[in-house]
This record gives sequence, C-alpha cells and structure tokens, in this order.
Amino acid sequence: MASDHPRMPPQGMVRAIELVRNGLSVAYRKLVPGHLAVMELLGAGWLTQAIHAAAELGVADALADGPRSGAELARTVGADEDALHRLLRLLIGHGIFTRRRDGRYALTPMARALRRDVDVSLRDAALFFGSPIHRDNWSHLADAVRTGKPVGAALHGMSFFEHARTDRTLGTLFDNAMTSIGSLGLAPLLAAYDFARYETLVDVGGGEGTMLAEILSRAPQSKGILFELPEVADAATNRLADLGLADRCTVERGSFFDTVPHGGDAYILKHILHDWPEDDAGRILATVRAAMKPDARLLIIELVVPENARAHPGKLIDLEMLVNTGGRERTADEYRKFLARSGFKLNRVIPTVSPDNILEAEPA
Ligand SMILES: C[S@@+](CC[C@H](N)C(=O)[O-])C[C@H]1O[C@@H](n2cnc3c(N)ncnc32)[C@H](O)[C@@H]1O
Repeated sequence: MASDHPRMPPQGMVRAIELVRNGLSVAYRKLVPGHLAVMELLGAGWLTQAIHAAAELGVADALADGPRSGAELARTVGADEDALHRLLRLLIGHGIFTRRRDGRYALTPMARALRRDVDVSLRDAALFFGSPIHRDNWSHLADAVRTGKPVGAALHGMSFFEHARTDRTLGTLFDNAMTSIGSLGLAPLLAAYDFARYETLVDVGGGEGTMLAEILSRAPQSKGILFELPEVADAATNRLADLGLADRCTVERGSFFDTVPHGGDAYILKHILHDWPEDDAGRILATVRAAMKPDARLLIIELVVPENARAHPGKLIDLEMLVNTGGRERTADEYRKFLARSGFKLNRVIPTVSPDNILEAEPA
C-alpha cells in the first residue's frame, strides 16, 4: 500500500552539493555588477508564473505518454505553437522539460513533478503559488513588513483561513496545494525517523491522512488517530478506509484550540505551528501538552531556519506566513525556547533530505 516514493539520496551528499551551489552563487554575485545580479533575481517571480502556466495548460500531462512535436503538443493543450515554444524554452533552461534532437518535447524528472497523476505531484502547488490571489497578497508584502501583520484583513476583510473557507475557489486551490505539498516531504521524513516505535500515533491537524497512512503502512503494529476539523475529517475518514486502514486508524473531530485526543504515544504536528501567530501556536502546544502522558513524545515537523546568512527555503516560507497567516518559521534555538515556555523539553532536531526537520520533544 505504501506509495512508490523515489529513493532518497544520502543526506551528506545533498548538503555538500548545496554548499557548493551556494558558494558558486556567492562568487557569481561578487563577480558581476550588483545591478545585474539583482535584475536576475527580479525574474524569479516570472519563473513562478511560467511554471504555473505550464501546470494550468497541462503540458506535463500531455507528454506523459511520450515525446511530442511542438505542433502536436500545442494542439493538445490548446496553445499557440510559437508562444508555447517560448514558454518551454524558458523552462527547459531550468531543467523543466527537454527538447530532443528530433525537435520533440519530452519530460524530465522535474517536469514529471508537474503531472497530475504521479505520487508526488506539484501541479496543484504550482496552480496555487501562481494564482492571482496568491500574487495579490504577496504584492502587499511591504504592508506586512510595515505592520508585522498578514495582509488579509486589509485586503479582503478577513484572515487567510476565513477567506479560504468562504471563497471556495481559493479554498479548493489551497487545500489541493496543501495535499500536494504534504506529499512532497514524506519520503525524506519516513527515511529519517523510526515512527514505528510508537504504538499509537496522533496526527494533530493531519489533513486527509496522507502522512499517517504512509506511517501506518510501514508500521503494522502501530495504530493511528487523525485529529481534524469536522470539514476535513470526512474526507480523511473516506481516504483511510479506501486505503484499508479503517481498523487501525480512527478519525476524531474537533479543534486543536480546545482539545486533542488523549493517551497517544506520539503527537505529530506537521506544518501546523508555523501557520499561526505566536499566541495561537502556544495555545495549540498547551492543548497537546494537556493530552500527553509523561512518557509521550511530541514530533514537530517544520522547516528550521538556519542561523547562517545563506539562502534557505525556510526564509522564503517564513515570509509566506507573514503575508498570509501571521505565522512564522523559527530557528532551532527559537523552537527550544518556545517549547520550554510551553512546558516541553526539546530532545533532538533531526534533519531530513528535504528542508523539513523533525523536532522531537517531551513534556518537561
Ligand atoms: C497546513 S495544513 C497541514 C496538514 C498536514 N499536517 C500536512 O502536513 O499535510 C494545516 C491543517 O490544520 C488543520 N486545522 C486548521 N485549524 C484547525 C483546528 N482548529 N483544529 C484542528 N485542525 C485544524 C487544517 O484543516 C489543515 O489540514
């Protein structure tokens, strides 16, 4: 039942190549005049839009059965052949799609990630991150930096999560993107940590159960409890039943601001704390703490921002949180202090091949 996730490269090798890449970027930026280096960075948003366009057109799906000529591909996705060629020429330069000697376009591993029907598909993430509403919020980043607050209240009269609940176009885009991103880091997490050592795992705000299902499929002795808002819990119940896990995994409904299931051996908070302003995140930790046995473990899965000056995805997602939700990413030390204020002791920070880390804590 476990999904066919790609094998993980050795973590040491990934980190070493990242360092070399960063060193080369620094060297390049020092070599060329500053304005040229800045101009290059200004194009980053356009690249997001190009990936979004390819996802919206369904180019990767149209190449799923094999290479196609420009004319054939343009007909299939309903595009102007010359304009499609120009879009793909840009993306090919970044490793997304390739053009063969015979002139036909084909998939690369990066392009495959934009297909709809693969285990780890980023198509829905591309649709959300390039959507007008997402771009609209980010275009008000300066306001968020002025006030330290997310932009939703001023722009839409409500918080991001209220907006996602009331505007179903946004809600669907967001939910699908979250499911898509949720599957992104699963294989690295499962490779980095032995979740099977716990008899009962509680996934707090576990979405539709993707992570819990993957854990349970590799841990036949373990049981799971998924805790979610009522509107998500139904989808999770159906999904877990479809995966044949109904007898080992229950779904409980409620809000993590009120209570969470008691008696678990491990409580997972994956991509939850970073969503909320500090006081709310503290309330979530307090609720979980109150439900935990003294020997239970808390497993926080988040990006941990490094203390160094290098570029890191956590620094980008941190601003995504500032603009949209008022949440934040934290350094390991900030987590240690935040956990201590909430009655926990941080035991270990376990890195994975992806930017996600597992922060293992216990009641202090
Ligand atoms: C960013 S998603 C993370 C989902 C999942 N943990 C993952 O990593 O894929 C946040 C989740 O928190 C859930 N959530 C939001 N508010 C909640 C609340 N008050 N109580 C329980 N779950 C909540 C949402 O329904 C959503 O599934």
